[in-house]
Amino acid sequence: MKVVTIVGARPQFIKAAFVSREFLIRNTNEVIIHTGQHYDHNMSGAFFEELSIPAPKYNLSIGSGTHANQTGSMMIEIEKVLLIEKPSVVIVYGDTNSTLAGALSAAKLNIPVVHVEAGLRSYNMSMPEEVNRVLVDHISSLLLTITPSSTLNLRREGITENVTYTGDLMYDVFSEKNRDAELQTVSAHLDRLLSSIGLDTSVEFILLTLHRQEITGDVKSFLRVLNILNKLEMPCLFPIHPRTKKLYSDDLTSFNNLYFIDPLPYSEMLQMTRQCKLVITDSGGLLREAFFLGKPAIIVRSETEFPEMLDNGDYFLVYNNFEKITEIISKISFLNQSYRTDFFGDGYAHKRIVDSIVEFVSNLEKEN
Ligand code: UD1
Repeated sequence: MKVVTIVGARPQFIKAAFVSREFLIRNTNEVIIHTGQHYDHNMSGAFFEELSIPAPKYNLSIGSGTHANQTGSMMIEIEKVLLIEKPSVVIVYGDTNSTLAGALSAAKLNIPVVHVEAGLRSYNMSMPEEVNRVLVDHISSLLLTITPSSTLNLRREGITENVTYTGDLMYDVFSEKNRDAELQTVSAHLDRLLSSIGLDTSVEFILLTLHRQEITGDVKSFLRVLNILNKLEMPCLFPIHPRTKKLYSDDLTSFNNLYFIDPLPYSEMLQMTRQCKLVITDSGGLLREAFFLGKPAIIVRSETEFPEMLDNGDYFLVYNNFEKITEIISKISFLNQSYRTDFFGDGYAHKRIVDSIVEFVSNLEKEN
């Protein structure tokens, strides 16, 4: 059995890490293709190093572009590799353009697609990620879900065969990395970082990330939300996505309560989340990490793929009505909570994912 794994964007490196490790332990032949969607060291290479992900056999270096340009260029190159490698299955993660390009290229060559993180839905088709995940789910042969509600979403769309709930790989990585000893080494570095930007190391702060096109693509909304956050009592630490930084470089200097820093490596981001009082984000990954850590969060979106969280604790959706942020913050108790996280699995999703893929391929081989 040979598997081809296709990754390209920051969250996919985190997700693929433990699955690749499990393939190595089981001596499975895994070929990794990196599309090059993310290429800055702190968006890509840093994660390969920290999470010990094997070097990709192919780096397609596609880089940035419009959606069609980026996705199309990836497909042309992925097809060439798949024709050489002839894998038993192609594994794709999540909902990025790399996911769509990988799944489409494989499906057109009649290579079965395994979609990890299948069935998540926002039901908002104006999000590029929603378009990607719906399409990928409908051309996948094995669908691995991270929450029980994703399995139900698939059922509603008539997808019931070869669907397995595995739990969330982000919870696996979190469970292993969220140890005092592991994070102590990064604490000193973070203290230096806080001091270097003029913040006291014991300061109470908000951890802020906003990167989605819906908000950063609309100048008025983006600057409006930043203006509101700039007036909060607590400072906001904002590890800023390179795109947002490029777009707004001239405006960012005018916010004295917002501290812009470069994107952080995995463990440093986790430690920052542990240290902060509150998370404000439009990222599904950071949102989950906040939840695992029992931190309250304000989700700057009109909907979330994780409705379970909204029933659990201090999780609030805010979209357009950004003024509500101040009111919400005044109501949060800021006591560290211990939320029910079991719907994200038990920290062993990677083992279940590899089991499911091995079983799926062995069934295929028996049929042929
Ligand atoms: C992509 C995913 C999004 C995911 C996010 C994680 C799609 C449609 N979106 O969004 O779902 O949550 O990754 O971060 O696939 N850039 C750099 N350096 C890099 C990468 C990007 O400077 O290493 C800049 C470029 O200006 C580029 C822009 O960021 O045009 C956007 O990058 P892109 O890969 O298109 O989408 P993301 O916003 O990162």
